[in-house]
Amino acid sequence: EKGGWSSFMRKEVAEQPDAVANTIRGRIVDGEVRIPELESFGDDELRGVRRITVVACGTASYAGQVAKYAIEQWARVPVEIELSHEFRYREPVIDDGTLVLSISQSGETMDTLMAVKYAREQGARTISICNTQGATIPRESDAVVYTHAGPEVAVASTKAFVAQITALYLFGLHLARVRGTLAPEVLAEALAELQAIPAKLQTALGQSERVAELAHWMADTRSVLFLGRHVGYPIAMEGALKLKELAYIHAEGFAAGELKHGPIALIEPGQPVFVVVPSPRGSANLHSKVVSNIQEIRARGARVIAIAEDGDAAVLPYADEVIRIPLAAPLFEPLLAVVPLQVFAMELSQAKGLDVDQPRNLAKSVTVE
Ligand code: M6R
Repeated sequence: EKGGWSSFMRKEVAEQPDAVANTIRGRIVDGEVRIPELESFGDDELRGVRRITVVACGTASYAGQVAKYAIEQWARVPVEIELSHEFRYREPVIDDGTLVLSISQSGETMDTLMAVKYAREQGARTISICNTQGATIPRESDAVVYTHAGPEVAVASTKAFVAQITALYLFGLHLARVRGTLAPEVLAEALAELQAIPAKLQTALGQSERVAELAHWMADTRSVLFLGRHVGYPIAMEGALKLKELAYIHAEGFAAGELKHGPIALIEPGQPVFVVVPSPRGSANLHSKVVSNIQEIRARGARVIAIAEDGDAAVLPYADEVIRIPLAAPLFEPLLAVVPLQVFAMELSQAKGLDVDQPRNLAKSVTVE
């Protein structure tokens, strides 16, 4: 089934352009989003949504965190992300304007299933974003939007993650159209950006050999930090999670703006830090703020590996390594920036002689609470 690949993860990382293309397929018709699975949610109901609560665990929760930026910007609805296991065991505020959106690759994660059941008991309407046809969570939800990433076998989630962001973006753009919060040309541009992602993912994958070399030099590293801002922040956390689960290395992801509130104390000479750099074409302010963060940590001896878009020269004087990603509108960058981080964790795991597909202590789907 690995079809000549050395691991399922390697195969699934390479399949990401197809995972995104297949998740989009049939859902953009004449320049508009079409999600027939959401027919049970009439336009009036979607206009009445006052708040979206996302429940998910692990990588799926980071997909939700990325989508929060996009859905709030496009559809002007507040979105909160809750880890399923935290949501379930407090008294979350759920009213008739609350939509509960669950995200799960397997559709069998017990924590998320319990959160969805609880939300329904409290009267919330629920939508599931799921990669597995007919799984339990979609069956327990009012509607399901499937990601079409194909079966994901490796424990570390990769292609399902990019497919989840894709499905969430389609949902966000659908919501924006129904609610009339986006000018038609802005909506059309966003759809065009999404449709351009598969080819750009292919280009981003082209950096994999360089990333592999980097991982091989760093096989003895004991701790790696990841920084990001805005949509790059959940990507930093995802990069850290991948490294923990695959290479058993201590890793942490931070919001770059939080550095001076504590984490900068961790920087000592030689500390590797990956920085997901926002596009200078987005808010120039954010770009220059992250470049200043890079200067600050570099001055304290950090070894900086920047993930930056093609042509961004501002990072060159301060970064030890620059991994390039193709140009995309700022909200779409996470789909590309995550690729080198996945590859880095996979290669480091391999360099250490570990089992890439089946890391110790982990199961592909966590079916106990
Ligand atoms: O099947 P799910 O998407 O519900 O799984 C959620 C998490 O258990 C999962 O994403 C986990 O964090 C992965 N091992 C990450 O690579």
